Amino acid sequence: MALWGGRFSQAADRRFKLFNDSLRFDYRLAEQDLIGSVAWSKALVTVGVLTADEQIRLEEALAFILEEVRATPEAILTSDAEDIHSWVEQRLIDKVGDLGKKLHTGRSRNDQVATDLKLWCKMQVPELISAVRQLQQALVAVAQTTQDAVMPGYTHLQRAQPITFAHWCLAYTEMLARDESRLQDTLKRLDVSPLGSGALAGTAYPIDREQLADWLGFASATRNSLDSVSDRDHVLELLSDAAISMVHLSRFAEDLIFFNSGESAFIELSDRVTSGSSLMPQKKNPDALELIRGKCGRVQGALAGMMVTLKGLPLAYNKDMQEDKEGLFDAMDTWLDCLHMAALVLDGLQVKRERCREAAQQGYANATELADYLVAKGVPFREAHHIVGEAVVEAIKQTLPLEEMPLAALQAFSPVIAEDVYPALSLRSCLDKRSAKGGVSPRQVSSAIDEAHKRLDAK
Ligand code: ARG
Repeated sequence: MALWGGRFSQAADRRFKLFNDSLRFDYRLAEQDLIGSVAWSKALVTVGVLTADEQIRLEEALAFILEEVRATPEAILTSDAEDIHSWVEQRLIDKVGDLGKKLHTGRSRNDQVATDLKLWCKMQVPELISAVRQLQQALVAVAQTTQDAVMPGYTHLQRAQPITFAHWCLAYTEMLARDESRLQDTLKRLDVSPLGSGALAGTAYPIDREQLADWLGFASATRNSLDSVSDRDHVLELLSDAAISMVHLSRFAEDLIFFNSGESAFIELSDRVTSGSSLMPQKKNPDALELIRGKCGRVQGALAGMMVTLKGLPLAYNKDMQEDKEGLFDAMDTWLDCLHMAALVLDGLQVKRERCREAAQQGYANATELADYLVAKGVPFREAHHIVGEAVVEAIKQTLPLEEMPLAALQAFSPVIAEDVYPALSLRSCLDKRSAKGGVSPRQVSSAIDEAHKRLDAK
């Protein structure tokens, strides 16, 4: 039975009911709705609506339902209740009879759903933080073993300067560290309880809302009832966190797809995260990574969708807001899945060091070194840049890397070039020289790994 039958003489059209009901997705808020209801029952004792005895009976029944729900959450879906709030109330009435009908005193589904969703988000965040940290740990573990794996770094997808695979891993570790701190930040603003805001104007019972917030594990209670029931910033924030992090994961996936391609062949992905072609027997496709990259799209869509849903809404609650849940749930599930999958991909990844080194040696990735060498010999950088450009053209003509050009050929471009140019052009020297903070020098990389370990092992 619907919660609001009194004013209506006709039953809802079956098609409208299907369109309007949210139980098929908001059943995921069952646990939060039950926890919120227990706290509300306690508040009702303090204002004389329930006796202590009645509250105990309600709390026991709600605890029983919570166990039921935890054991078989899908059982809820067999009900034709409108939403999870109606379902919980009906189930409570089934269990304790008329007493259950008192629970909704002074409460609205508007403050109830806002509370449930915030509680859900609060419970979700630690799980996300832990998955983000696990992926960072997986990246640092790969970095640890690939400090010697020299490969080309790219700009414009052109070989630019040599880096190490470890340095690449640490770049993504940094992005994920920011994702983690965004989640921590989101948590702070999530920690304010809307319960006791009523439908929009506040509850008519003199409830101590700070106490109520405390019972629910919130740091404080919201300051304005109208805002409390209309606010979905926390949904937008979590979706933004997800959208940004998914962009990171998508770039991670794209890089690895490229490294794994026949053209680069810098890595080999494990059989455990790839699939074959139904036609071409030689194929081993990077499906896990392609799906991470692909799923990024739907998370961006969820964020954009929610922004647009909220943008024209007048205060306070409007049914449009029921649209907040499916996108949020899907985006959070997708993000978690992708974080786990990215860690799994790293787990079996093999770096082909020989091939990486070979590629780092091609493409004139050490041209900047030659310019810096000239600078060290007193040539102004702009001039050095020009000289090296000409030398590269000649080297391309001779199909030689710079370090294999005869000394005389190099000296034709600048008389200051001497025998000591060759060690300067080595991959080793390219890396070693980038020793300022954050650079690719082996020393910097190894201390970055130590720092990441320290940060990730703490807590
Ligand atoms: N199912 C609704 C939602 O998710 C619950 C709140 C309904 N409130 C109302 N006044 N109809 O938003």
